[in-house]
Amino acid sequence: VVGLSDVRAARVRLAGLVPASPCISWHLPVNGGPELPAVHLKCENLMPTGSFKVRGATNAVALLAQSGGASGVVTASSGNHGQAVAFAARRVGISATVVVPEDAAAPKVEGARALGAEVVTAGLTSGARIDRAQALARERGMPYISSFDHEAVIAGQGTIGLELLAQVSGLRRVLVPIGGGGLIGGISLALKEIGSGVRVIGVEPEGSACALAARRAGGPVSLEAPRTIADGLRTTRVGELTWPLIERYVDDIVTVPEDAIRRATAALARFAHLVAEPSGAVTTAALLCGAVAVEPGTACVVSGGNIDPALLAELLAAA
Ligand SMILES: Cc1ncc(COP(=O)(O)O)c(C=O)c1O
Repeated sequence: VVGLSDVRAARVRLAGLVPASPCISWHLPVNGGPELPAVHLKCENLMPTGSFKVRGATNAVALLAQSGGASGVVTASSGNHGQAVAFAARRVGISATVVVPEDAAAPKVEGARALGAEVVTAGLTSGARIDRAQALARERGMPYISSFDHEAVIAGQGTIGLELLAQVSGLRRVLVPIGGGGLIGGISLALKEIGSGVRVIGVEPEGSACALAARRAGGPVSLEAPRTIADGLRTTRVGELTWPLIERYVDDIVTVPEDAIRRATAALARFAHLVAEPSGAVTTAALLCGAVAVEPGTACVVSGGNIDPALLAELLAAA
């Protein structure tokens, strides 16, 4: 199982390959009334390839390269992990094959191709693309790197927890989006095992809440048709590795409605001057819609910024 020592080792491995992301303090826009306490935005949208995924992918590929042998890797992704794997693979000179859904966001597909990846499309659900990618990996005799259910990926994402502790004095709680749970699994493990006492709150779209469903059922369950604008969070099922981490370390899971995700994406662009994709805006959405109260010492992970420009224009025009 992945532990704090793996997250610490990932931090050392990533040094010089992946920068720390900036963490900025921001006041939520209020219409009249007193100013709210500042919140801290952990800007993973500003990372190379535009999301936190570069951490886990770089850690996993670096470990593979160390042990030698792999001429290429295969993955399944809504797009961000695919770009990150392509980025990491190109750096060590191996090939990357990325299986994306038929409705993948154009910038994510273009990004992976521009980084030299072979892009294959399969179905609309995370289950369909994972099956296809695992079959391809077997056919080609290449390792399959899950976007969330992989120890090195979880450890890499956990480095965000270590950075937050160094960047935010008085950190009391962190809001983290949940797709398959690699991001929150790594962050919560790091924050809890280090003994920080920081609360970790997971955020899911109302229409795609597989972690909340797992918590209620007492174990992973499959959603039939997740529906949300947050394409990175349209995961049908939490992972076998990530579920025990969520169960053990995540204090609370809240859901946010679609209109709050849309408004938060626009608010981040207009008022924080950050381009976030809907999946990256769910944490701010939780504060904006009141699912989580704004209190001092709160950080939101803005997990990615790869939004289709046409969608961003639509959301800004509606704001
Ligand atoms: C921008 C963004 N945020 C959050 C997530 C969710 O990450 P995880 O699957 O590790 O929970 C993803 C996954 O694709 C993503 O692309």
